[in-house]
Amino acid sequence: MPPITDPNVIVGRDAADDAAVYKLAPDLAIVQTVDYFTPIVDDPYDFGSIAAANALSDVYAMGGQPLIALNIAGFPSGGPLPISVLGEIMRGGAEKAAEAGVSIVGGHTIDDKEPKYGLSVTGIIHPDKVLKNSGARLGDDIVLTKPLGIGIITTGIKRSLVDEKTVRKVVEVMTTLNKAASEAMVEVGVDACTDVTGFGLLGHLREVTLSSAVGARLRFADIPVLPETWDLVGKGAVPGGAQRNRDFIVDSTIFDPDVTLEQQTALCDPQTSGGLLIFVPRGRTEKLLRSLEAKGVGVRAVIGEIVEDDHARIWVASH
Ligand code: CO
Ligand code: CO
Repeated sequence: MPPITDPNVIVGRDAADDAAVYKLAPDLAIVQTVDYFTPIVDDPYDFGSIAAANALSDVYAMGGQPLIALNIAGFPSGGPLPISVLGEIMRGGAEKAAEAGVSIVGGHTIDDKEPKYGLSVTGIIHPDKVLKNSGARLGDDIVLTKPLGIGIITTGIKRSLVDEKTVRKVVEVMTTLNKAASEAMVEVGVDACTDVTGFGLLGHLREVTLSSAVGARLRFADIPVLPETWDLVGKGAVPGGAQRNRDFIVDSTIFDPDVTLEQQTALCDPQTSGGLLIFVPRGRTEKLLRSLEAKGVGVRAVIGEIVEDDHARIWVASH
């Protein structure tokens, strides 16, 4: 694509950030993002709700406040699915958006063999308070706000290896908004943030270490993983994306010998609607954890730290 020349585009395409930011005034910018995908669970209402939470997350990851959104949908006209399924998808999306304080103000649906749904979200942010991938600094603690294993468990769902209780559990994780976590980090003041989605924890962390020109150390024992993940990894229920993510990070990641292959797979597992990965100056970590707790964020794990490294490498120790 041709280069962006508009000086008001403060975040464009170059640094793998979660959303674009356009400055309207010295104290006001808009945040814009779009995300949509094919169903990952059977229930259409849940699918809509997950897709909306996931699309909103990119605005939260920038530290922004989402305001309005447009539906983007594909649906097969003339069967086999009744049109009421599309209605349920959109109801799930609209109710999740409403929970976020976001109005869905329109949208567009096309005829498509496989259903697809998501949102284009518009939000606002102060131009000087945008949390970019390039902001991580030496001495930052790394905080994660949702457990890993979502891609492995949803793969297990597709292969009918997962019971209903586990389905409900993973749907609950995916439909949890990153709103409260975002508000907590904005209140406390942090250096950088991204959300953990398709590239997995290590893929997204590598984007941050690369654009911030730092390294990172993780402690596997401190990283929350949904316990149902391990049995499914043993049964081979690993999404194709996990291997692609691994290929992306393998040359720049040093695993301690006691970090097992299964554990490495979980760190590469693509997440749908995963948590925020927050980079907070160590002196503010306690304050961030208290604020996350006060706002009801159930998972708030300090999983590692930013270190000096010219090659943006990631070290993973078992503890
Ligand atoms: Co993102
Ligand atoms: Co996204």
